[in-house]
Amino acid sequence: MEIIRNIQKFDDWMDYLKDWQSDIGVKIEDSENFIMTPIYDNTIPPEIEFGDFKGQPKWDRITQIPTQNMRDSLLALTFVQGDTEFASVEQQRRLLENVPHDYDRYAAVRIMLEEIRHGLQMCHILVEHFGTSGKVEARKLLERRAREAFPEAKNPRLLGAFNEAVDNWLDFYAYTCFVDRDGKFQLGMLKPCGFSPLARSAGPMLREEAFHLGSGNDGLTRIVKAGQVPVAILQRFFNKWISCAMDLFGKDESSTAEWGYVWGFKARFDEEQQRKDGNLDPDRKELNHHNRMLYHVEVADIVKRLNSFIPGEEKLFMPHEKFHRAIGRYANQPYDVHGNLMEQAEYDKYIKTALPTPQDYALLKDIFKNPNWIADRALPKDLWGYQENIRKATLGK
Ligand SMILES: [Fe+2]
Ligand SMILES: [Fe+2]
Repeated sequence: MEIIRNIQKFDDWMDYLKDWQSDIGVKIEDSENFIMTPIYDNTIPPEIEFGDFKGQPKWDRITQIPTQNMRDSLLALTFVQGDTEFASVEQQRRLLENVPHDYDRYAAVRIMLEEIRHGLQMCHILVEHFGTSGKVEARKLLERRAREAFPEAKNPRLLGAFNEAVDNWLDFYAYTCFVDRDGKFQLGMLKPCGFSPLARSAGPMLREEAFHLGSGNDGLTRIVKAGQVPVAILQRFFNKWISCAMDLFGKDESSTAEWGYVWGFKARFDEEQQRKDGNLDPDRKELNHHNRMLYHVEVADIVKRLNSFIPGEEKLFMPHEKFHRAIGRYANQPYDVHGNLMEQAEYDKYIKTALPTPQDYALLKDIFKNPNWIADRALPKDLWGYQENIRKATLGK
């Protein structure tokens, strides 16, 4: 069964999407029940909500945007977001070959279909609004490949976490809990965007994203409750995915983030609350750091909650924000998981033991033979009814 049906056709881009689907070899059952179309929120505020253009009407068309620099920046924001969506399906495409429980299949199928819908949404904006360069970028979104999933591919995905391997269901639930959670933050920052097609896309995507991170949190809880996977192994997967996700917030003192704020494209994640509290003028050099720290607090809470289900002395913890970073002021520096600086030679040996090891993967393979390594849970009664609710909530009367 083809993934894509009932879709609003736009140019020849749909053919690229079909080629991508067959090239990555993902077969998704149940896809006929999924409505694969762009969804635009009709309930957004009409005026720009922050930055130097605050109070002016939101821009509906790219030609209304004052400068070419601003248009270029929007183009990049849109295709970087789209790149992550397709990448995650490439990373997860193998999981359905071997599922622990029916519920896990449902969660993964739903998440993959929604990620394709998110990619489609970004491509719809690119093709509808950005002329020839939009079409080129929309096509490139289907030409890049997640590197670890397709080592022979020419062009990797744009951001580090989206090139990593998602080899098994522990990876999947750590990924959805920690990396999709970054997705929630990015979409939250885009929700008040001054360019209305992006602002109108963010609400429906956020509603779908909530299921992804919820599934991640729930999956990790079910794993911890089942008590079959050693805490030390869980910790190494946390070290891997939390550090990758921290990088996704971008460089410290980023001029892209600064201009994104000034131009009213990308806000603080907690912009609304900050404004209510009277914090109208943030340190524009520290925007990425600000959002990253909000994420850090949220993840720390999750780890704390998971620990409440672990009976023994050995508990999970947050890897330090300096650990295993590829972006920002701690990038490529030899810090351990507690934030202590090490000698480089010592670190080179250490890092292999702080991230998932070949022995971990071998042991997990064994553990996964019995599906009770993760607690089962019931399927929802109406598997796809939620889609109608999202449409109703955002399309207006
Ligand atoms: Fe997504
Ligand atoms: Fe997601």
